Amino acid sequence: MKDAATMSGTYATFSDDSFAGRSVLITGAASGMGLETARAFASKGAEVVMADRDEAGLKRYGAELRSGGAAVHTVTVDVSDQESIDKAFDYCDANLARLDNVVTCAAIITAKRIFEQDRAHWHRVLDVNLLGTFFVVQGAVKRMLDNPDGGNIVCIASDAGVHGGGGLIADTAYAASKAGTLSMVKSVARELAGKKIRINALNPGPTDSPMHSHIDQSLKDRIAGNLPMRRMGRPEDMAAAIMFLCSDAASFTYGAALDVDGGSMFR
Ligand SMILES: NC(=O)c1ccc[n+]([C@@H]2O[C@H](COP(=O)([O-])OP(=O)(O)OC[C@H]3O[C@@H](n4cnc5c(N)ncnc54)[C@H](O)[C@@H]3O)[C@@H](O)[C@H]2O)c1
Repeated sequence: MKDAATMSGTYATFSDDSFAGRSVLITGAASGMGLETARAFASKGAEVVMADRDEAGLKRYGAELRSGGAAVHTVTVDVSDQESIDKAFDYCDANLARLDNVVTCAAIITAKRIFEQDRAHWHRVLDVNLLGTFFVVQGAVKRMLDNPDGGNIVCIASDAGVHGGGGLIADTAYAASKAGTLSMVKSVARELAGKKIRINALNPGPTDSPMHSHIDQSLKDRIAGNLPMRRMGRPEDMAAAIMFLCSDAASFTYGAALDVDGGSMFR
């Protein structure tokens, strides 16, 4: 595959140096998929802004990446707070030559049954997962419209946003927030038609990250056993797909929702 690409030279490939000189802002970067994505971008030479509400995690993993020689910034942000998002973008404006890529991973998962979910619960889930994602996208678009080369945005949705969540590991509010994220991505893609900004969603299937640290191994085994690939996803699987969506190899992928789910959503 690589040889054919090298010989032809007529199409972009996901090459090793494709992110050198590029920047990325990643929310939810102190754990799981966001952290693996930060590691992946750093390993490909990108300048990385890791944003999360978890200050201790940012400190720990920011230091880890810097010690490997990566250009890494850390910014504490609560994506459910507009002022906090604005400050994170102010930081990017002040410290990056330009913002090329934005990846929204920050989210909370909840698993309540229907009569356990009150209005405050729904507000909290939507504030973080849907509004928090939208207002990060809004900040990204604002910067990228001024960038002659545009930019790439990837929003992490979920298989639960497509087929629902039944309360076992993801509830109605969570699934609705992710369905909203998918719709939001498509809507923004329509509005940005003709601009140089690509926006796409990623639908991970069940992934063994700290998000599921409260789930015991036997339930994880059951979840894995129900997947056609007979294993849960790894944060690295998602980071690889996110890198693809941000790369020139995905230059015609637009307003899409990429399923990386071990086959959980055949459709
Ligand atoms: N793990 C899965 O099975 C799975 C499946 C489908 C989709 N997803 C989605 O993938 C994304 C990444 O999930 P993960 O598994 O890596 O989870 P994770 O819990 O490991 O990481 C989520 C990160 O988001 C941060 N965060 C939460 N609320 C925040 C807020 N208000 N402001 C800023 N940061 C905040 C957390 O501190 C954490 O570092 C999420 O959007 C999640 O909904 C996960």
